[in-house]
Amino acid sequence: MPGRHFLQIPGPSNVPLRVLKAMDRPVINHRGLEFAGIAKALLDKLKAVFKTETGTPLIFPSSGTGAWESSLVNTLSPGDKVLAFEIGEFSAGYARAARSQGLEVEAVELDWGATIPPEVVYERLAADTGQAIRAVLTIHNETSTGVSTDIGAIREAMDRAGHPALLLVDTVSGLGCLDFRFDEWGVDVAVTCSQKGLLLPPGLGILCVSAKALRARERATTPRHYFDWGPMMAKNAEGYFPYTPATNLLQGLGEALDMLSEEGLEHVFARHARMAEGVRRAVAAWGLEVLAQPGARSNVLTTVKLPEGVDGDALLVESETHWDLSLGNGLGPLKGRVFRIGHLGDINDLEVLATLAGTELALRRMGVKVDFGAGVAACQQWFYANPLPGRVG
Ligand SMILES: Cc1ncc(COP(=O)(O)O)c(C=O)c1O
Repeated sequence: MPGRHFLQIPGPSNVPLRVLKAMDRPVINHRGLEFAGIAKALLDKLKAVFKTETGTPLIFPSSGTGAWESSLVNTLSPGDKVLAFEIGEFSAGYARAARSQGLEVEAVELDWGATIPPEVVYERLAADTGQAIRAVLTIHNETSTGVSTDIGAIREAMDRAGHPALLLVDTVSGLGCLDFRFDEWGVDVAVTCSQKGLLLPPGLGILCVSAKALRARERATTPRHYFDWGPMMAKNAEGYFPYTPATNLLQGLGEALDMLSEEGLEHVFARHARMAEGVRRAVAAWGLEVLAQPGARSNVLTTVKLPEGVDGDALLVESETHWDLSLGNGLGPLKGRVFRIGHLGDINDLEVLATLAGTELALRRMGVKVDFGAGVAACQQWFYANPLPGRVG
């Protein structure tokens, strides 16, 4: 199809031309001087996006799932107990990853659409008088349901309970879209990857680890090799990696971090908040419902409930086939019952409006009675009344 493909899934997100160009170069020697300069600068630059001065960023050639594993095998030992919250496919996946490493998971199952309630974190930790729980597994942005969690409030609940557990945060679809404060929130391990707010293709698993997490690593006995932080940190100090890194992706990451810093992180967050509100208004104008509970709705993506009898997977086939528009499918128990609109990364007002227009067309083909332009108009009105700061209104 001519024109641009509309990749509006909640990650991988669209890769900006600047980042593509930064990667479009001959592969360089990963043991050479040029690479060492690039890697050192990059690891330092990553600190800004995590909002940390004390944390250590680490990059593995992997996806987010590998970064999950890395967070667990370096800090915990088989038989250790962790507290996990299952509020969707990915938070449940993090808990599954923990079980696979021989950890004992105390899982709190909540509605898919709910956030992680700080009060429940407090109660579970306060009840753990023997302090058997070694880590709390949380998720900043649950990509299956479109729900965000207030990690600062989770930290506050942990402190109130006076519990020493590590705070592990999956911010795979949060970082670079939503405010993340590694130092202020006392995060011990933040887990993310390249293909969402960091504007790259898939291929990098990225972590930021605290001094406390590094101390936990010294005691942790879970077998680890590829994802071990020790050799990675030792080589990173010289600008290198213990094995062949994804050199071109790393060059792209440098460019992506520059783009985020040039726009200004606070502007990036405000842009995401504004686009998300526009999309939510469109969903309401269609007479459909957002899955996420009010107050927990993500600025990264919107998960939309479909009327009974309308198959979400078939809807995605319609949008792809006729309008070259990729929307996200329902995951796990939500399969077929919802669809997800990604509004993250390198995206602007007109791209959001075109996505909504394409979604209206596909919904109509599925027999959903939406008026053409209803969602688009609701979103336009919101954008018009709320110009981005720094733009002519
Ligand atoms: C919140 C969250 N965590 C973890 C993952 C797993 O990441 P990956 O598919 O890169 O392994 C995803 C993937 O979309 C995700 O959205």
